[in-house]
Amino acid sequence: MKRRTAILISGRGSNMVSLIEAAAAPGFPAEIALILSNRPDAGGLARAAAAGLATATIDHKAYPDRESFERALDEALTQAGIELVCLAGFMRVLTPWFVERWTGRMLNIHPSLLPAFRGTHTHERALAEGVLIHGCTVHFVVPELDAGPIVAQAAVRVLPGDTPETLGARVLAQEHVLYPQALRMVAGGLVRLENGRVVRALGGG
Ligand code: GAR
Repeated sequence: MKRRTAILISGRGSNMVSLIEAAAAPGFPAEIALILSNRPDAGGLARAAAAGLATATIDHKAYPDRESFERALDEALTQAGIELVCLAGFMRVLTPWFVERWTGRMLNIHPSLLPAFRGTHTHERALAEGVLIHGCTVHFVVPELDAGPIVAQAAVRVLPGDTPETLGARVLAQEHVLYPQALRMVAGGLVRLENGRVVRALGGG
């Protein structure tokens, strides 16, 4: 049985598209059952609808506080029978209440080799630090921002003359490969979270 998966977005949704494309393969262990955006103008919503997927917007601005927004989010996910959640450029900080409800069942992708460069402007900061290797990380979501047990990482060499844009573009290309691989492993049961640690079966990265 394919695991019913929701993708949460706030923007253009290029990682979302890579997950949708991967999940269209017959043997893929997850099906994308819902695309949820917190922004009505997220470009990814149109791309998801064009792919024939169910979409919904839960506009955080329509709620008085973080928790009532998250209760609406949780209700939409539960109603759609969602088992796994992929954050893909979802730019809302989630409360411990929500994160704990989805512990071990919620992934995020971040454009750096965590634990380096949590937060925003990761490519600028990587260049400013002079690192030679940069990359991206898929991790299980924990209450702490851009932290959490690592499912998979991909490394990118920093090249002479790189700008945040050129470096970011090479990292993004790796994100599009990495996130489907990570979802495949988690949905297929090859990687799971146990007592706060990642447990890998043979073939789980
Ligand atoms: C991606 O680079 C993703 O790693 C990053 O936002 C971008 C979304 O692009 N996420 C974060 O920075 C989360 N901390 P996309 O909408 O084209 O997938």
